[in-house]
Amino acid sequence: MAEDDEKRAAAEHAALLPGDGMTVGLGTGTTVAFLLPALARRRLDIVCVATSPATEQAALALGLEVRPFESMARLDLAIDGADQVDTDCWLIKGGGGAHTREKIVAAAADRFVVIVSEGKLVEELAPPVPLELLGFGLEATLATLGEVRLRPGPPSPDGGLIADYLGPIASPAELAAELSATPGVVDHGLFPAELVSEVLVGRPNGSVTRILP
Ligand code: 5RP
Repeated sequence: MAEDDEKRAAAEHAALLPGDGMTVGLGTGTTVAFLLPALARRRLDIVCVATSPATEQAALALGLEVRPFESMARLDLAIDGADQVDTDCWLIKGGGGAHTREKIVAAAADRFVVIVSEGKLVEELAPPVPLELLGFGLEATLATLGEVRLRPGPPSPDGGLIADYLGPIASPAELAAELSATPGVVDHGLFPAELVSEVLVGRPNGSVTRILP
């Protein structure tokens, strides 16, 4: 499938970035699923942290060293996918519901590299914006947020409920501030361009383009 080839191209390019001795944050999703074996094949001396149990299990199965992200203050590098990347390099993430951990890992990294297929590039971000919500006071939080749909399925590994904000995105920065200021919202899937070091885009011809914010 063409989109998978683009994801693989971006992921395999990113797999060349880590070097021996580095700490590396691993994202979540189908693009990252191409990253993990490419990284494992390099047999580097690296320590990884995973943004989801699925990534942790896959990385461990491939022989990568994964440690809990409780005792490391910074990471050298984090690599993750995205659902949408706009022309300013603002992102929407959280298609897999892992955006809270993904944002913590991205923010802790000296370099945050986003790997996407070409179709993820958009002129303007559009809903849905993934949310993680506390169960406590859920109905009150939903009423405050307005246009929100709870996702079926299990809670996040941290016990949060995954939902999607469906309202308009007039300004990503304003909406991000609004969502962050809403009591009961653990975090949202809007990632500011300031978090992003570069975006690697896999193209249909197999090449990879680097976009800087
Ligand atoms: C998971 C994410 C993913 O990075 C995002 O959904 C992209 O997924 P994929 O690589 O499968 O297209 O944010 O929470």
